[in-house]
Amino acid sequence: MADNIRICKEGKYPQTVEGIKQFYDEWAPTYHKDLAHKGYRPKAPRWSAETIAKLVLNKDAEIMDMACGTGLVAQELRQHGFKNIDGVDISTESLKISKETGIYRRLICDRIGTNKLDIKDDTYDGLILSSALAQGHLNQECFPELIRIVKPGGLIVFNVRSKTMDTYEKFKDGKFDTDLQELVRKGLWVKETYELIPELILNEPGHQYVYKVV
Ligand SMILES: C[S@@+](CC[C@H](N)C(=O)[O-])C[C@H]1O[C@@H](n2cnc3c(N)ncnc32)[C@H](O)[C@@H]1O
Repeated sequence: MADNIRICKEGKYPQTVEGIKQFYDEWAPTYHKDLAHKGYRPKAPRWSAETIAKLVLNKDAEIMDMACGTGLVAQELRQHGFKNIDGVDISTESLKISKETGIYRRLICDRIGTNKLDIKDDTYDGLILSSALAQGHLNQECFPELIRIVKPGGLIVFNVRSKTMDTYEKFKDGKFDTDLQELVRKGLWVKETYELIPELILNEPGHQYVYKVV
């Protein structure tokens, strides 16, 4: 499965939702082992969970792990004492592995995008979207739907690999930040923090953002 890591590093993912689902369904059984074997530390899930833990002090808070995959983020959240963790992902095989962790309260198999998810408005105190903004995956068009399900005052934590930011048509040349700013202008959220972190995803640098829902 080393090929999958090469595909990730080069950003040469399948370009359809069906293709991405199949890519992660096939990879799910060896995903953790492949990353560990290649020496990739799970820094992005850890950083995301640490960020939420610093800002959301109530351990009974409702947390959404968006594009949860095989559950790496929830494992980190659990280390910080969070109990009410839900997840959404399109890959049924990844969700099976997430379910086996026994950490998630609710797991939803759905596409994340501009479509409405089966989740009530203003449900979550915190939402993490880690390592899922990329070619063929999610892009900034999903943010209004993520904002809808987070409570006013709740936090949305997300990251993008620097290489993805510089090469993906939808993100590059400042397009990503312009679209985030447009949601600020519309009064939907405000920017809390931004950091450029070395070795964030696949041991490469990445952009880390925290926004607060208005
Ligand atoms: C690189 S994995 C990251 C998984 C997890 N967040 C982590 O940090 O380990 C990307 C995940 O995004 C999911 N994904 C990609 N596009 C999606 C979409 N449009 N809707 C739902 N899930 C999607 C994939 O199935 C995969 O599980």
